[in-house]
Amino acid sequence: MRVPQIDLMRQYKSMKDEIDRGVLGVLESGQFILGPPVKELEQTLAELTGADQAIGCASGTDAIELALIACDVGAGDEVITSPFSFVSVAEVAIKLGAKVIFTDIDKQTFNMDPAQLEDVITPKTKAIVPVHLYGQTTDMDPFMEIAGKYSIPVIEDAAQAIGAKYKGRPVCSIGPLACLSFYPTKNLGCYGDGGMVLANDKELGKKVEALRKHGQIDKYKYNLIGLNSRLDSVQAAILLVKAAKIEAWNERRREVASIYNERLAGLPVEVPFVSDFAYHVYHQYTIKTGNRDGLRDFLTGKGIGTAIHYPLGLHLQDAYLPLGYKKGDLPNCDEVSGQVLSLPMFPEIEDAEAEYVCSMIGEFF
Ligand SMILES: Cc1ncc(COP(=O)(O)O)c(C=O)c1O
Repeated sequence: MRVPQIDLMRQYKSMKDEIDRGVLGVLESGQFILGPPVKELEQTLAELTGADQAIGCASGTDAIELALIACDVGAGDEVITSPFSFVSVAEVAIKLGAKVIFTDIDKQTFNMDPAQLEDVITPKTKAIVPVHLYGQTTDMDPFMEIAGKYSIPVIEDAAQAIGAKYKGRPVCSIGPLACLSFYPTKNLGCYGDGGMVLANDKELGKKVEALRKHGQIDKYKYNLIGLNSRLDSVQAAILLVKAAKIEAWNERRREVASIYNERLAGLPVEVPFVSDFAYHVYHQYTIKTGNRDGLRDFLTGKGIGTAIHYPLGLHLQDAYLPLGYKKGDLPNCDEVSGQVLSLPMFPEIEDAEAEYVCSMIGEFF
């Protein structure tokens, strides 16, 4: 049996007619940028996340850039974020002239440890960006409380966590700003690049809306230095079809996770820890094991696709060494990056495939 880590074609084939109709509708409408499907998608996702405002943009990375600019992050400022994540937050903050401050993660949840936050806040801290990694929310109450004490905005990086909940509250409804990515492999993915900023602060939302269109508040009237980051109508039309299914897809991911949990019990691997406060949407189902590379090679030989998110903390990546971190500064991040392995996870995976993955893991051990 061959089990890919992710298979986007199964999903497309299951809804081809609807998607094709949506795309053709845009082609025939002639409204390709920020057209009616973008507006409709913004409304749909504001409702789904409980955010006050949704602003479509060109990618998740752009969503983070727009959010950071809206919070006035610039030269000399500091942005606090996770070292165990995709590169976007660190990349964008540095491009804006800010310094990135990493805090270590909790070894069980892989998310930023709130206990370490206050130690790294300085008068230069301009934004705090927790990442809801793999589909599980960060412990947001302490983040919001500490950030509130210093009046620093919290930007939720929810790129991997659409539909996830914290104490019953959907991600993107907690911080004043939040970011989504619609990269094709995400729980809600388009067929190109796409992203969104969610705003729960009117002023910040207004700013982001202008920033995505070159800082334009009115036709050819610019009050901010912005960027060109608009969501196109074709992607929005695709996302609208898919958004109707995201809750069912997330439920299916949770079902697959239960199969994994049950079948991996008793084996020398650590299955994902789920916090009491979290409704986990399993963007990834990531296990930990001391013999990660050996297991991965074995599974590859059995036709099973896996992935490593992430093999090295951002603080130790060549481009980020000038920040001055060295191995051992963020020990939890260093440790788990050598142990994590993401198993096949997508809503269309069959029970038998997940069971095969588990039996092969059993065979390896
Ligand atoms: C946690 C996180 N943040 C940001 C991004 C950036 O999104 P995009 O690839 O749409 O730019 C991604 C995904 O790629 C991500 O996983």
